[in-house]
Amino acid sequence: MKTKYYALFRQCSAVFTDLAMIMDNPLVNLKHRRILLGITGGIAAYKAAELTRRFQDHGADVRVIMTRSATEFITPLTMQALSKHPVHLDLLNPDTESVMGHIELARWADLILIAPASANFLARFASGHGDDLLTTVCLAAECPVAIAPAMNQAMWAKTVTQTNRNTLLARGAHILGPDEGLQACGEIGAGRLMAVDDLILRSSELFSTGTLQGKTVVITAGPTREAIDPVRFISNHSSGKQGYALAEAASNAGAEVILVSGPTHLDVPERVHRIDVISAIDMHDAVQNVIDRADIFIGVAAVADYRPKLAANQKIKKDQNGHQSLLLEFVENPDIIKAVATRPNRPFTVGFAAETQRLETYARQKLVDKQLDMVVANNVGDTSIGFNADVNAITIVTNHTSQVLPLMSKRALSERLIELIAAQISHQG
Ligand SMILES: Cc1cc2nc3c(=O)[nH]c(=O)nc-3n(C[C@H](O)[C@H](O)[C@H](O)COP(=O)(O)O)c2cc1C
Repeated sequence: MKTKYYALFRQCSAVFTDLAMIMDNPLVNLKHRRILLGITGGIAAYKAAELTRRFQDHGADVRVIMTRSATEFITPLTMQALSKHPVHLDLLNPDTESVMGHIELARWADLILIAPASANFLARFASGHGDDLLTTVCLAAECPVAIAPAMNQAMWAKTVTQTNRNTLLARGAHILGPDEGLQACGEIGAGRLMAVDDLILRSSELFSTGTLQGKTVVITAGPTREAIDPVRFISNHSSGKQGYALAEAASNAGAEVILVSGPTHLDVPERVHRIDVISAIDMHDAVQNVIDRADIFIGVAAVADYRPKLAANQKIKKDQNGHQSLLLEFVENPDIIKAVATRPNRPFTVGFAAETQRLETYARQKLVDKQLDMVVANNVGDTSIGFNADVNAITIVTNHTSQVLPLMSKRALSERLIELIAAQISHQG
């Protein structure tokens, strides 16, 4: 028993150390991010090599698209060797298109960064051209697109270049730089490629929506297992997918996320700190260990309400009592979410209600009984959604509101829910 609690304590301490490191280092946002680096034909193209290395130093995966002009300034071979992936050059090439086509490239990327971006690229992208691989991928992209212009100061100052820049900015592109200073042509002014350090930092900041910046979110997920004997347990069908998707969405919104997880087969989302637990009591203790730090608590786990009163020390043998039936006595587990909601200075507390009928009625009852700020009800009676599925439909109930989010992926649903929670918190001031 002592060993078990020591292990839990060690997991919690490790989480606090990791969180402190994250707060000191925003560049951890880059870890495992997929960055598509577009290089155009400018004198600063050589800096794309350093940029690639620096992204990789922070754990990002970089793939490169080069315009034909860019290949006159730095070789595709250099970029291939550094990025460790073939460089993408052509739009209308059946061989390369069959390996990773322009739409797949656009889907692959978490961020497209064009650095350096020529005046010519700004003009083509601003006017909606899709006449080469880079502009076509940018048009097909749904991820953020960041553009780091670099050119002679007179080119940058031209009205037409400024108009193109403003058009792209208005359409949602992120314009990084340019810096001012001495240029390769010997002139002084605005037009230098933004410094590599700043490009790395600004790119990392784009991965956060920022709505939960500075907040700590504790989320429980997955099932719990209640031991009958050393080899048997009672559990439920929860896959953990909804809780993990919420952890990822909260992390993408800029929060520090601690995920207290029952046994699942899921990978821990990037930048999320997972504490592994087995039983409801373990989960309760882990939550109590970290809850003081939380601004928001979201209880998604399907926690067993009851556990066998006594877990046998040895495997229960089939005929050991001489009976053909086995009676187990159950006792109630601690109510994890109520324990959080009734704390003084409690965090904003969200509960999930898995119901098979009368969703809103039961959700509102749970909101009142457990003194929660929000209850999210999902219909687990419909086997195509809820437990184990990749999609879900939910009803969200607060004191004064009720809102239905229709069927969508658990990922999309999580993003919507996190934005709603962030909005509620900002209303509360
Ligand atoms: C030596 C040299 C350096 C150049 N440097 C730049 C530059 O820094 N920025 C720029 O916008 N254009 C620069 N140009 C012009 C571009 O290479 C040219 O507009 C080209 O068509 C850009 O093609 P792309 O946008 O498809 O890469 C330079 C041209 C030469 C010959």
